[in-house]
Amino acid sequence: MDTVKLHDKHFRVSITKEQLGDVVKKLANDINDDNQIADDTLFLSILNGSFIFSADLLRQISFHCSISFLKLASYEGTESSGDVKQLIGINENLEGRKIIILEDIVDTGKTLEKLVKELSSHNPSDIKIATLLYKPEAYKKDIEIDYIGLSIPNDFIVGYGLDYDGLGRNLPDIYTLIDES
Ligand code: IMP
Ligand code: MG
Repeated sequence: MDTVKLHDKHFRVSITKEQLGDVVKKLANDINDDNQIADDTLFLSILNGSFIFSADLLRQISFHCSISFLKLASYEGTESSGDVKQLIGINENLEGRKIIILEDIVDTGKTLEKLVKELSSHNPSDIKIATLLYKPEAYKKDIEIDYIGLSIPNDFIVGYGLDYDGLGRNLPDIYTLIDES
């Protein structure tokens, strides 16, 4: 299946599942080799997009670790504004913990900035960031990303956990929006 139609848009395969497998393996190796990471590291997987990446990565981590899942949700109620997000799902004490954030993709970096700010207020001993995909042309923040799987062009993609309006997360390969203009 080289192309797929989701809602009103067409997408073409751009990163195959074999390539993704290699990228995740390399990331896991880099994390395993990083001697600053201790046995009690807590991975924080950012839902929804990171669920497949996190599952594939974690099975290749060779030290004792924990994982928990967080979500950035829009505020509900009268104060609601499209841009204001709230971090939900922190169920454990993060004080003094070594954290590695697992992101599916870093685009502008807005999400990452919000995450790091929120998590820092819980006083972990360290926050590292691992992202499967990174769009360098779109990134507008200064936060250093510790582990980057693959840098990609500034195009809209779906698959391997990433969606277009809810669809496409189940696709094993990654697809890029076909520009029909
Ligand atoms: P940022 O805050 O602009 O860095 O965007 C990060 C979030 O936007 C990611 O965690 C994704 O959920 C979503 N996102 C960014 N780029 C894409 C894309 O190309 N396809 C699907 N989702 C994306
Ligand atoms: Mg995401």
